Order: sequence, then structure tokens, then C-alpha cells
Amino acid sequence: MPVLAVAREHAEDLLQELMARQLVDETRKITKRGREILIPVVAEPSIPLARHGARWETGERLPSRSRARNPRDRLDERLRAAGIPLAIAPRRWKRLGDVLILRILPEAQAHARALAEIYGSVLGARTVVQDVSGIHGPLRLPDFEVLWGDGTETVYLEGGVRYAFDVARVMLSPGNIEERLGITNRVRPGAVVADLFAGIGYFTLPLAMRAHPAIVYACELNPISFQYLVRNIRLNRATNVVPLLGDCRDVMPRGVADWVIMGHFDAREYLDVAFAALRTKGTIVYHELCPKEQFPDALTRRLAAATRANWRNVTQMHTRIVKSYAPGIVHAVAEFEVSPLHRM
Ligand SMILES: C[S@@+](CC[C@H](N)C(=O)[O-])C[C@H]1O[C@@H](n2cnc3c(N)ncnc32)[C@H](O)[C@@H]1O
Repeated sequence: MPVLAVAREHAEDLLQELMARQLVDETRKITKRGREILIPVVAEPSIPLARHGARWETGERLPSRSRARNPRDRLDERLRAAGIPLAIAPRRWKRLGDVLILRILPEAQAHARALAEIYGSVLGARTVVQDVSGIHGPLRLPDFEVLWGDGTETVYLEGGVRYAFDVARVMLSPGNIEERLGITNRVRPGAVVADLFAGIGYFTLPLAMRAHPAIVYACELNPISFQYLVRNIRLNRATNVVPLLGDCRDVMPRGVADWVIMGHFDAREYLDVAFAALRTKGTIVYHELCPKEQFPDALTRRLAAATRANWRNVTQMHTRIVKSYAPGIVHAVAEFEVSPLHRM
């Protein structure tokens, strides 16, 4: 019966992050004990607990909720009442702020609006959208359809950063949180960072707020994402971000950065831009969709060759898999440090 104990003032933030990952144990009661809140969870969260000042509580048994309060039970009850077979109803969902995202099977499409109404009202969402065909194109635009409720603009809290955005118009991938927060421990205070594909600030804002860099240059091509990026810089009161609207190839200053973040699957086509953005030495964080059999050897060889072609040497390289993307394809990251190439 795992239970997390967290100070009252941090409970809201932790709870939101746990709920976004569906980790709160809905069968037991969240309980107040003195200045602490005890939260029952179903599994160990991958978010660092120290960030919320949370710790594991042993030996505390939390009272159970009545069965009727368990949302899975309430969903099943409503589905049965609506005559929708449980086998075709979504078993999982994604929540971004107060917008719920459902994937609905082809055989359940006839019930799409009824499903949205049931999930939206039981799970307390403002709007329910269905993920029609995922995220597409160089601007990474979502293909979502609003099924229930009103308005797809929301504010999503992650790692202490607030992201205002429109779920139906720009992407946010909550799966990459470890990747986004991990870098913040490695960039040192005073560094200059270039985020070539800033979106609404997924890398820029955690970095700007946690790592205390001197400046983060945040390039974004899509005017809608850029509008949210600017809004999120204000919302989080980040004073060290310079947002740049346009193609990073045109707008990113040259020879200024200690770190370059390339959070786009087309990063390979922009390696020259990354090298140009760096001072003589620095670190590039490179993302790509990589065939599994090419990870990590072919990936590191390719990046080493690109580095030499840009008159640098790789001095260190770490590779990691963020997630499996499709059968045989992984979302891979290479973080590599480069220095000037010394001629013999
Ligand atoms: C995939 S999103 C970032 C996702 C983020 N890495 C995450 O983990 O959620 C990439 C962003 O790069 C922007 N973009 C695409 N090509 C660009 C370019 N040439 N210059 C600047 N931004 C670009 C897109 O509009 C999009 O907002």
C-alpha cells in the first residue's frame, strides 16, 4: 500500500503530476496529517520526489473510498447504462490540464460523443478530444477532434512549470518529462543555451527556471506555438529567455551557445545550424527517430562524422532511448560534447 507524504504547500503540484500519469490510487482517501498530505499511489512515480519535498511513508494505512467513488467503477457503471460494451471503451486516457484526450477504437466510433460525455463528466474534465491520427509534419501539429465540452486551451503544470497552450493546435508530449528535467541538472549557471525547436517552451522553460543560465535563445517557427511560448515565458516569470520567431536556420545567433537543444525528429537536417550556434566548444542534445538496430553504434558514428565535417571533435557522447516510438523504431537522444578540431 504505497503512500507518499508531502508538505501541504507542495501537495497540489505533486498531485497534478501524479494524476497526469494516472498514478493516484483512487480506491483510497487522500488524507491530511498535521502539515502534511498523504497521497496513496498505485506505483512508484518516475518523477524525482525530492523536487516536491515528498517522501515514502511506511506503515500508514489510508482509509478506502467507497467503491462508487472509484472512477473506473463509475465509468464502467455509466458505460453499461449507455449500452456501450466495456471491451471497446478506452481503458486509458491522457489528461493535459483540464482537457482529456481519448483514443477511440474504430469499432467504438459510433459511440464517440457518448463516450466523451461519460469520460468527461466522470473524470471532471472541461473538454474531451479524440486523438484522430497523432502528431504530424515538421510543425508537429496534432490531429484532434473536440467531442465534448468547450475550449481546448488549458494550462498544464509539469515539474513546477506552467504551460498555457491549445491542446488541439500545438503539441505537448508529457512522456518526455525525464528528458526535459534531466538536462536542467547538467547545464551550469551562467551558460548560454540555444533551443532550436522551442515549441511552447518544453525545454526552454525548465532550463531557464532551474539551471539559471544567462540566456536561453528559443527559436520557434510556428506563430501559434510562438504566441504560447511568449505567454509561458511571462506566466512563469522567466527573465532569461529570448524568444525568436522564425526558422532557427535564419534567426539563431551564431557562435554564442554552450548548449544546443535539438528537440525535433528532423534534427539531423539542422546539425550545421547547431554547430554554427555553438561557441568553439559546447554540448549538443540531439533527438531522432532511430531504427533499433542502429542504436547506438550507427547513430554515434553518424554524429561523429557530422562533427568532423563541422571542424570539431567529439570529446564525450552519451546516448539514451527516451521511448519506443513504433515497432523497430526508438526515440533516441545523443548528448555530445565537442571541441575544436586540432590539425596535425
Ligand atoms: C516536436 S516540437 C518540440 C517537442 C518537444 N521536444 C517535446 O518534448 O514535447 C518541435 C517544434 O519545432 C518547431 N519547428 C519546426 N521546424 C523548425 C525550424 N526550422 N525552426 C524553428 N522551429 C521549428 C515546430 O513548430 C514545433 O513547435
